[in-house]
Amino acid sequence: MEHHVALRDGHRLPILGFGLYKVPASQAEDVVTEGLAFGYRLVDSAEFYANEAQAGRGLARSGVERDDITVTSKFWGEDSQAPEAVRAAFDASERALGRIDLYLIHWPRPSRNQYVDVWRTLIELRDAGRVRSIGVANFSADQITRLGEETGELPVLNQIELHPYLQQAELRDFHAEHGIVTQAWSPLGRGHLLSDPTIVAIAGAHGVSPAQVVIRWHLQLGTAAVPKSVNAERLRSNADIFSFDLTAAEMAAIGELERGQHFGTAPTDRQ
Ligand code: A2P
Repeated sequence: MEHHVALRDGHRLPILGFGLYKVPASQAEDVVTEGLAFGYRLVDSAEFYANEAQAGRGLARSGVERDDITVTSKFWGEDSQAPEAVRAAFDASERALGRIDLYLIHWPRPSRNQYVDVWRTLIELRDAGRVRSIGVANFSADQITRLGEETGELPVLNQIELHPYLQQAELRDFHAEHGIVTQAWSPLGRGHLLSDPTIVAIAGAHGVSPAQVVIRWHLQLGTAAVPKSVNAERLRSNADIFSFDLTAAEMAAIGELERGQHFGTAPTDRQ
């Protein structure tokens, strides 16, 4: 199992990370320190999560070489999408985290029709050497196509809600066609997947947890994933997914679970 995926810009990304969405600020420092101790090397953060300063302290305290860690942050853009607002948000996240390796546009917010300009500002930040890689989250194929047409540059990655109940087959195909990495947010369907009878049965057959089955499914599908847990034992076991394989029949059985179900905000609901 390859533990990294290649980005189109020449860099590599750990296929598994852990997410900080809904991690209370009071716990974020410990979660980051523990996650790095358990072997994770990708931390998925965002301005909106309101815990970046604490996450930054965890990074510093961990003792892990900073160059070995990929830290993601994201531009929220609810108040303003002007270039100076993007730069100010980037500066604040960078101050909190020490350094940002991958910076994403958190939502396209299509009714504002400014995401191409936001993307141009991200390109400038990257060209100025402030951040290694740039991408998007929650973008549709059409929105990504427009970025390419108007700026000549596609994102290296699109982070989307993706789990066995929302498999995003069409968008994954589009990404594959254009060399864009698919990264799953809420890869466990916010925990709703973990009592699914198919998942539970497969977990039993392998002697692993339902969460390990779902995370392993992501990896065998070729999607990167950032599961979240505030519990040290769950965080540890969620990373322990490199020593078993799902069979083709098990992958197919999970494939059958598709039901188009969002547990988080659907992109069409955030204009
Ligand atoms: P907790 O943080 O208390 O562990 P997602 O990553 O899809 O958003 O899912 C996160 C949800 O799944 C959280 O509610 C988290 O709760 C729960 N969760 C994460 N890992 C596990 C696990 N191994 N077993 C059970 N629940 C888990």
